[in-house]
Amino acid sequence: MRRILLTLALAVSAFSAYADDGHTLWLGDFMNWDPEQLRMYWQADSFDYAIDESLPEEGYSIKGKIIRGGSDTGLLYASYELMRQKKTGKLHDVESAPAFRYRVLDHWDNLDGSIERGYAGKSIFWSTSLEYDDWAKRIEEYARANASVGINGAVLNNVNANPKVLTAAYLDTVKAIADILRPYGVRTYLAVNFGSPKALGATTTADPLDSTVIKWWRDKAKEIYGLIPDFGGFLVKANSEGQPGPFDYGRTHADGANMLADALKPYGGIVMWRSFVYGSKHKGEDRVMQAVSEFKDLDGQFRDNVVLQSKNGPLDFQPREPYAPIFDNMKNTTQWVEFQVTQEYTGQAKHLVYLGPMWKEFFSFVSPSTLKGVAGVSNVGNDQNWTAHPFSQANWYAFGRLAWNPGLSSRSIAQEWLRMTFDESSNRYFLDSMTGIMEKSREACVDYMMPLGLHHIFKFDHHYGPEPDGFRADYPIEWCPVYYHKADSLGIGFDRSSKGTDAVSQYREPYRSIYNNVETCPDRYLLWFHHLPWDYKMKDGRTLWENLCRYYQRGTKLVETYLFSWKLMHSLFTDNNDEDRWELVERLLMDQLGNATEWKDTCLQYFQSINHKEIPPERIETGVQIATGDHNR
Ligand code: GCU
Repeated sequence: MRRILLTLALAVSAFSAYADDGHTLWLGDFMNWDPEQLRMYWQADSFDYAIDESLPEEGYSIKGKIIRGGSDTGLLYASYELMRQKKTGKLHDVESAPAFRYRVLDHWDNLDGSIERGYAGKSIFWSTSLEYDDWAKRIEEYARANASVGINGAVLNNVNANPKVLTAAYLDTVKAIADILRPYGVRTYLAVNFGSPKALGATTTADPLDSTVIKWWRDKAKEIYGLIPDFGGFLVKANSEGQPGPFDYGRTHADGANMLADALKPYGGIVMWRSFVYGSKHKGEDRVMQAVSEFKDLDGQFRDNVVLQSKNGPLDFQPREPYAPIFDNMKNTTQWVEFQVTQEYTGQAKHLVYLGPMWKEFFSFVSPSTLKGVAGVSNVGNDQNWTAHPFSQANWYAFGRLAWNPGLSSRSIAQEWLRMTFDESSNRYFLDSMTGIMEKSREACVDYMMPLGLHHIFKFDHHYGPEPDGFRADYPIEWCPVYYHKADSLGIGFDRSSKGTDAVSQYREPYRSIYNNVETCPDRYLLWFHHLPWDYKMKDGRTLWENLCRYYQRGTKLVETYLFSWKLMHSLFTDNNDEDRWELVERLLMDQLGNATEWKDTCLQYFQSINHKEIPPERIETGVQIATGDHNR
């Protein structure tokens, strides 16, 4: 058997000398092996595997040639740890266990195969035209990628959930998927529509306190667990953006969540209840305050198998937001953070924007120790390379790595990913340049899209590109860009200080005072919390308008330097027979530059039309060192 396996390994390595279409992600040849084959691969190298129940269930230790795992999943994670070590350096001893118990990808996949805010093709789960074997193979590969970074859960469908997912025909598919994911330690979850029993015609109401409704959910839980004994639970978006919920019946979020939690409790399932609500009970209030307003009084009222899942910022996955104050306000409720891996507001699958630094920034305000789980809105689709932009794979990778260990630096994760993903990374120039570019890319995105705390000035509906003059009388005001930047002839910004909406009051000290005072408010949040005159003198002595122009220009210039660096690396890719990937990234960087320029020009010209000020000439101030040394091998 060992011989067969090694032959297999060699055959696969020989294959990988051909052009890399990105399908095997950071796993390379390891994408081809199931847990048993992986283990045999390392056993062939004299590694000895055993369960050690004194270790945390998903944890593992590697000491010399001895591998111990708290469970089979722990051992599987150890196999991937060895892979990571082998591909990025040399094998060494390590003991590791996840920081969060729940590390879940949320797929916003619709049952018709489309993906809400998906930019890499169609769903890998639903309505595919593939034969069963190909469909299952793709899902198994997905499970391997997840296991390789420690992701242990997947919500298979959109939070704007179709009630039909709970019908027998769909549950059969859910079971088939769960059976494929299980050997990889990935649990299956579903997003459910709160109005399901009524929508499916089984009851006349969806009132969480109605006995027919309670019974319907209990029966449904029993049916699901009959098919999938380790089913994870339900994710719920209720009374938000048109979704039904307990308010429709005069009930609270706690009434709704607890009813579902009671149905799942006998089987060990959980309810992930989202706090992303606005325009409902607190309509008219500053949108970024509404989650706290709706949930604060319910603190302590949720069952122990309910978790409150909140986006990292209080608005909606903007390139930069201050952390969401709900994390300061719910002391007796289990909380998770929801990150957006799919780049809805950060250039979709056209921009190279590495999100590791953004998630690390969040953890610098909200201690990981206060959270029990991390959810990431997935960027996976059925494109051959999974994420459309080759560098968007890094966000999937980084999400998993940070969910396992939020103490890792975003830089080390970027470097690890580059080394595992690109053969070119054996070249120092490539590795250093691309690590630098990835690390700066999120800040550059903030600069060319919405610097200094600006937010929500993207185009309506598809959310790609700028629309600072956006206003539609038939839309809720909190969907309109003009409501957020509030630019007029005198100034710009949203006053959330104690003199404005007082959103600052939802923050714990010292942030409340720091953000409230314009003198101490960090520049990066300035226009999030304050409305200021165009000539306001900033800490560096420049006026607000000068700096706004400068930041837009700086962000755009940075993208120009990415393109320049990438072009310098052409020969590396040609030498590696990896030209296609180089060309794809080059084309995407050109798109990114075009879009960044559009952001800069549209926003500055719009603001200028209001304040009638000069736009200062552009200067190169990227702060990025463009390596000029020998970039050939
Ligand atoms: C954003 C996104 C929607 C999504 C919503 C949510 O508003 O644009 O498509 O449904 O977030 O998180 O529920």
